[in-house]
Amino acid sequence: MEKKIIIDNSNTDKTEVYLSFIQQIEKLIVGESDKIANIGNILSALKHNFNHLWVGVYLVRVDELILHLFQGPVACTRIAKGKGVCGAAWHQNKTIIVPDVNQFPGHIACSSESQSEIVLPLRNDAGEVVGVLDIDSEHLNRFDRVDEIFLTTLATIIEKEYAK
Ligand code: SME
Repeated sequence: MEKKIIIDNSNTDKTEVYLSFIQQIEKLIVGESDKIANIGNILSALKHNFNHLWVGVYLVRVDELILHLFQGPVACTRIAKGKGVCGAAWHQNKTIIVPDVNQFPGHIACSSESQSEIVLPLRNDAGEVVGVLDIDSEHLNRFDRVDEIFLTTLATIIEKEYAK
């Protein structure tokens, strides 16, 4: 039987935007040794380039996540393991995409404007979760597999900064 190859070009633009964005990020932080300066700039670039509602990091501190660097409106400061999307991503050690936050049981609404969300674990060299990268959008269904792939690359860059 003849095999048909179906090329899905629907996400090509997004892929190109991310490829260019990651290059810009690498240029932005190269030569700067201060991790807080670098992570702050990465989060600012991420929020403003993609027009997200909120982007930030929560760090694991014993049995809870505590708010660390972020860009956007005031957010909740502490999240218990397994609670909300962030606590679930930590507990399950995996990326979670939430197309509609109102459908996610236990979602923690720091802002009523947030409609969809992606949370990626930040890991140390041993693969343990040391924090999470949380991105909120005021649009439903804002994040897909393409976002996950490139944001995983970005999370790796952020992990290296935290490990400094
Ligand atoms: N919505 C997150 C809480 C963090 S804020 O979105 C900044 C959650 O459910 O874990």
